[in-house]
Amino acid sequence: MNLIWNYISFLIHCINFLVVAVSEKNNTFNSNHEGQKLFKVYMNSEKDVQALKRIEEKCQDCIIQWTDYFAQNTKVILHVKEDSVNEVRDDLLKHNLTHEMLKDSYLDVVKKERNPLRSPQHDEFGYNYAKHNGFGAIRSLLIGLTNKYKRISRLEIVECTIEIRPIYAVHISNDWSNTKPIIMIECGIHAREWASVEACIYFISVLLKQKTENIKRIMDQYDFVILPLLNPDGYVYSMSKSRFWRKNRHCDKQYEMCDLNCVGIDLNRNFDINFCEDQSPQCAATYCGSKPFSEKETQAVRNILKRLQKRLFAFFDIHSYGAMWMFPYAKSMEIPRNYEEMKRLSEIAVEAIKKVNGSEYRVGPAARVVYTASGSSMDYAFDVINVKYAFAIELREANINPLGFIMHEEEIQPLLEETWTGLEACILAMNPYK
Ligand SMILES: *[C@@H]1O[C@H](CO)[C@@H](O)[C@H](O)[C@H]1NC(C)=O
Ligand SMILES: *[C@@H]1O[C@H](CO)[C@@H](O)[C@H](O)[C@H]1NC(C)=O
Ligand SMILES: *[C@@H]1O[C@H](CO)[C@@H](O)[C@H](O)[C@H]1NC(C)=O
Repeated sequence: MNLIWNYISFLIHCINFLVVAVSEKNNTFNSNHEGQKLFKVYMNSEKDVQALKRIEEKCQDCIIQWTDYFAQNTKVILHVKEDSVNEVRDDLLKHNLTHEMLKDSYLDVVKKERNPLRSPQHDEFGYNYAKHNGFGAIRSLLIGLTNKYKRISRLEIVECTIEIRPIYAVHISNDWSNTKPIIMIECGIHAREWASVEACIYFISVLLKQKTENIKRIMDQYDFVILPLLNPDGYVYSMSKSRFWRKNRHCDKQYEMCDLNCVGIDLNRNFDINFCEDQSPQCAATYCGSKPFSEKETQAVRNILKRLQKRLFAFFDIHSYGAMWMFPYAKSMEIPRNYEEMKRLSEIAVEAIKKVNGSEYRVGPAARVVYTASGSSMDYAFDVINVKYAFAIELREANINPLGFIMHEEEIQPLLEETWTGLEACILAMNPYK
């Protein structure tokens, strides 16, 4: 039944999928990237932040992508074009920015991230929990798992992207009584945040397998809706073309030009909550789009949130990286309702994570912990849908040679296990009725 339904909804939403599937085969970065370099730049002061912004504006074509932490006390990674390496290095020196150029080229770094040796003990339905998996393997795992555990799970195709990939939601309930409070988890809103996608997939597998008493208890109390990969087009692009891609792949036609970085909308700025107050230009990594919910991906989240609104009480948006357990608001410094309760739950989560292997997470309202950001899914779920608890979690970086989004495959498993430990502690400490 599940399979047939899945197939029908697939036909309805993603009729042209086969066309795309053909063009998706090549999963390797090509040699055009030879000579491109990565710089680590340390932001020691607000002055540094402003200096880096000026460098970026001066030579918009030099830097292919940069990580988004234009904030004090963070490290920004620049992916620089071959013929701009000297210019960028000179600019960094001129502005006295603390920086280093990585010895390995961009291509070496992204190749080393994925180890070609497979460890078969982690394989399930063609997906490997100890690897970075392509879209096809993710799809096959989701179909496989929800079929194997069909008594307690259902796979829904919520929407289809402009490149005609399905956006999946996995519904999990051990009784389908439709009365229990729902916890919703969203992953992969930003293309390059692979660890986030892996986290959701791991959570799905843990919940379905119910190997411990704690997980059984959680499943008796709650239903789950998990969107493991909200931005599949961006994800595929990040895997095959440009590792640090963040947005989706929709060309916003209100502008003439839509090449290179100017393609795409930052989905986590596209929700109808203080929309576009940050005013990023179209070609920026944080471009909010032409109007709220202009994108299929954000429509998918909105539609699910609205459909489940009555029973939905907790919303998690998982990101990578930064080691932060955050809650509203992102849009302003305003203190949210349930502040004390969300702070308490966050502290319980990060305490549990720390106990596993010492990883330290920061806790607090997103605007205070990182920077203000309008149009986020967390604020929308909290203010418009009115969930009791909303969180945005930035997973930590790798332990060995931390390099932002880059996560060597042997580091995936420990990260996922400790993240689940934190999430489990947080959920066990919740009270949906109080
Ligand atoms: C994929 O891309 C690589 C690098 O450009 C190329 O060597 C290889 O032949 C391509 N494979 C396919 C199946 O197109
Ligand atoms: C960089 O540092 C040097 C020496 O301390 C100073 O003379 C110069 O003005 C600084 N440049 C900028 C852009 O801050
Ligand atoms: C635990 O943390 C240490 C220090 O960061 C690290 O070297 C080690 O690899 C970690 N162990 C696991 C299993 O992640």
